[in-house]
Amino acid sequence: MNENQENRILSTSEIEEDIEFDSDNPLRPQVLSEYIGQDKVKENLNVFIEAAKLRKESLDHVLLYGPPGLGKTTLSMIIAKELGVNIRITSGPAIEKPGDLAALLTNLAPGDVLFIDEIHRLPRSVEEILYPAMEDFVIDIVTGKGQMATSYHLPLPKFTLIGATTRAGQLSAPLRDRFGVVLRLELYTPEQLAQIVRRSATILGIKTDKEGALEIASRSRGTPRIANRLLKRVRDFAQIINNGEINYEIAKDALDKLEIDELGLDANDRRLLKTMIEFYGGGPVGLETIAAAIGEEAITIEDVYEPFLMQIGFLSRTPRGRCVTKSAYLHMGYKAENFNKNEQCSFLED
Ligand code: ADE
Repeated sequence: MNENQENRILSTSEIEEDIEFDSDNPLRPQVLSEYIGQDKVKENLNVFIEAAKLRKESLDHVLLYGPPGLGKTTLSMIIAKELGVNIRITSGPAIEKPGDLAALLTNLAPGDVLFIDEIHRLPRSVEEILYPAMEDFVIDIVTGKGQMATSYHLPLPKFTLIGATTRAGQLSAPLRDRFGVVLRLELYTPEQLAQIVRRSATILGIKTDKEGALEIASRSRGTPRIANRLLKRVRDFAQIINNGEINYEIAKDALDKLEIDELGLDANDRRLLKTMIEFYGGGPVGLETIAAAIGEEAITIEDVYEPFLMQIGFLSRTPRGRCVTKSAYLHMGYKAENFNKNEQCSFLED
């Protein structure tokens, strides 16, 4: 992640302000009924959780995937709470050796949840011992080398693994196949995000009216983590100019000053679109080429910029590369007749 991303108020990465209260973040909903949006996911999960409870069994392993900042960790904590079990939270890159995973697994109680964020980043050697752990609840591990090597075959309690990833396609097939429940989280609508903003404002003791909340929501790229962050920044402006009360004008003014436009695009999104339009005629242009041109990592463009730009119909992925759409041209202030002189993207017109 480069400097642009770290400094970006619209970054979907967790920053300290988001985690300051991680284990008991007051903004995190605690139960499914408090969780706003993702209705299909909630409905299905509710069935699986209740069925597992009725049978007094552990819940099948769950894979959650979708863009960052949509509440995968929150949802996992809710699942554990609804099941009435403990949750251990870790991440792919944090588990460096098979022994690290063995230590985590052998400390679980029956039915517990192990949450592995960024599960696509698990080292290969760790992933391999995860297969029998998930399938047969055993772990085979070798310690020491040569003549001193000892192998252990440890039975494990029946546990539930919840894996989270930005894209299921990044997982190896053997790992993906071992999840009984695979759920995709979607970007939120502005109305759902407005509900989340109002809920968060109430919890934080911030006064905001409906229009103010909707304005923050509309500029949050479908992502609760961003909505909650923008709420705190807009509160700062409101404190100075309006006794801390957020309304439409205050929200609009604050977000304009933060250079987040009416659709939630920030300077980086606009730079990406502008580069594609001015240097590559709106596309098609390859991901690596865009990455080099704007000085971002390709994976950041794919995981952070593109999901939202595609959701609002500004960008399209084609077999030949990425294309900017006509509505993006218009939003960026280019004339319609400049749209795509390049035929390979022009099928996108209307
Ligand atoms: N905070 C973050 N995500 C949320 C959600 N989906 N519902 C309620 N509050 C949230």
